[in-house]
Amino acid sequence: MTTKTTIYISTFEEDVIKGLSSFPKSLSSKYFYDKKGDLLFQDIMAMPTYYLTNCEYEIIASQKEEISASFQGENGFDLIELGAGDGKKTKVLLKYLSEKGIDFSYLPIDISQNVLDGLKASVQKEIPGIDIKPQQGTYFEVLGDLAHYNDRKKVIMVLGSNIGNLLHPQAIEFLANIREGMNIGDLLFMGFDQKKNPQTILDAYNDKEGITAAFNKNVLHRINNELDANFDVDEFLHWEVYDPETGTAKSYLVSKKEQQVRIDKLELDVQFKAWETIHTEISQKYDDEIVSWLASESGLRIVHQFIDSKGYYKNYLFEKK
Ligand code: AVJ
Repeated sequence: MTTKTTIYISTFEEDVIKGLSSFPKSLSSKYFYDKKGDLLFQDIMAMPTYYLTNCEYEIIASQKEEISASFQGENGFDLIELGAGDGKKTKVLLKYLSEKGIDFSYLPIDISQNVLDGLKASVQKEIPGIDIKPQQGTYFEVLGDLAHYNDRKKVIMVLGSNIGNLLHPQAIEFLANIREGMNIGDLLFMGFDQKKNPQTILDAYNDKEGITAAFNKNVLHRINNELDANFDVDEFLHWEVYDPETGTAKSYLVSKKEQQVRIDKLELDVQFKAWETIHTEISQKYDDEIVSWLASESGLRIVHQFIDSKGYYKNYLFEKK
């Protein structure tokens, strides 16, 4: 007879076991983001080669009038932002809406109460009088609740080309989930990084300063710190590839030598052959055809699009089909 012990395993632990026991090995980019990872991502957004942030900022700053006009409803609207972060781009829009006396509430959604507290304080300081109602939870918990708010128009906003971390089938699921929370007449405003010169894309994910490399390797530091592992992080190489045919940029960590890593908390030994890979992130690039296809597969329709002056990035406005 065998005795079965029930032990609690977090999703992180489960994903690490699965990802490092499979071939080829992989770890999800969602685990890049802890305190240190958040700071590294801020540094990435400040790099000149990481054009995405500047392009989306330019779109919002230079087309805020048209964007705001497209958002307006008969009795105002609720602006619901998924994954608001530091709000640098959003604040430009909030400031404009507020100066024009437009009737709206701002509902940032984030899993971290800490992020929401910081955002609320800075928004209230910079835009006095704004109606801000932070909502703590996962996107879908909160969106599920908001689906019952039927008294006025909803505009759901997702910036930063965050959808690019998802493979197309998951992206469709994500969009279809958002659609579930929308009523006829509600809108989705979402950023999609566009296909462009492949070199420009590689440079955005392969800076000489090594900031992106440190960001990528942060997942190994997290496993070291949180799961008592002994990854020698310097023995892994950050490697970026971009396939201009599919528009998929992929990040890897490549083992520079044959090595064994012990993850104490998981009682797991992981073997690496020399030059074996761990796939860590995809950053999908899009064009109008792909976005139209994603939209139609998820029951949405593109009603408008906004582009930056270099043609690198687009924000699309969708409605429920
Ligand atoms: C936050 C997912 C949009 O994929 O461009 C930046 C994250 N990874 N540099 C992206 C990231 C490497 C970023 N997203």
